[in-house]
Amino acid sequence: MLEQLEALYKEALAEIENVQNTEALHEWEIKYLGKKGSVTLMLRSTGQLPKEERAAFGQRANTIKEALTEAFAAREKAVQDAELAQDLEAGEVDVTLPGRPQPTGGLHPSTQTFRELYRIWGDMGFLVYRSRDVETDEMNFSLLNIPEHHPARDMQDTFYTTEPGVILRTHTSPGQIRSMRELGQNGTQPIRVILPGMCYRNEQVTSRSEMQFHQLEGVVVGKNIRMSDLKGTVTEFARRMFGKNARMRFRASYFPFTEPSMEVDVECFLCGGDGCKMCKYSGWLEIAGSGMMHPVVLRNGGYDPTVWSGFAFGMGPERMTILKHGINDIRLFWSNDLRFLEQF
Ligand code: PHE
Repeated sequence: MLEQLEALYKEALAEIENVQNTEALHEWEIKYLGKKGSVTLMLRSTGQLPKEERAAFGQRANTIKEALTEAFAAREKAVQDAELAQDLEAGEVDVTLPGRPQPTGGLHPSTQTFRELYRIWGDMGFLVYRSRDVETDEMNFSLLNIPEHHPARDMQDTFYTTEPGVILRTHTSPGQIRSMRELGQNGTQPIRVILPGMCYRNEQVTSRSEMQFHQLEGVVVGKNIRMSDLKGTVTEFARRMFGKNARMRFRASYFPFTEPSMEVDVECFLCGGDGCKMCKYSGWLEIAGSGMMHPVVLRNGGYDPTVWSGFAFGMGPERMTILKHGINDIRLFWSNDLRFLEQF
């Protein structure tokens, strides 16, 4: 038996020297040192030997087991090191390769236009006043001198909510009342604000009209504010927005909340007034509705119209963006088509 044990020892030692990977290592361990491994079984059979041989055999078997366990540990370490080195070599990082670009988002064309508008109006001393999208019928119409059944309501087909009297604003003009009431301090302080935001109308959606669109309203209230202030302010804006030679045209118009009222046109900046497709061969582009604030509106905003006066205007940023970039379909603005958006 002792000879058998020594032969086994030699064989095991020889074998482990040739083990090259974790898998083979594992097999070797099972074969010799596992529960049913040959060395283990050999040790267990000590009891079957004649009494006088047992002690010597047991001692030797234990020494061999220890030696093999050590040999295994040493081999295990060597195999692991080799495998790690191999992995590192195979998965080597090439630091000279170009990095993966992080795609960055862009600003929506309407956001870009708004930022330009904020900059220009901000430079001209206007505050940005944020007014709500969900409005009351009263703010959107009645307080702006548009009573129920007034034909002007027909032109702004309205989205109603299930809450009586609560609607989606059809224009930014209700912000006139809100800003006057909040900033005017009971009609004692002058104000100069712009009101940007989304408006909603139940429009037939076509390439020329959407059921949601932005407006930028302007409101100025003070003492001795006159029509010439309105014309001068809007002209100054147009020069900053469209170029210092921009020519203006004011056309009489009608809004229930301004008196007198006028549409503001700027000379077509594409053809210089000669007439082209963009201005429909008229030489002019309409950029805003405007007028002197109606006394009823001033009063509803908390001001005494015999002491205070003011003007207001409302412009469509999408229209400006369309004109600027020659966009031919307004639906592109809210359809989230990246092929469109990525061009800006
Ligand atoms: N609220 C008007 C519209 O939506 C525009 C406007 C604003 C006209 C302010 C005059 C003064 O058509």
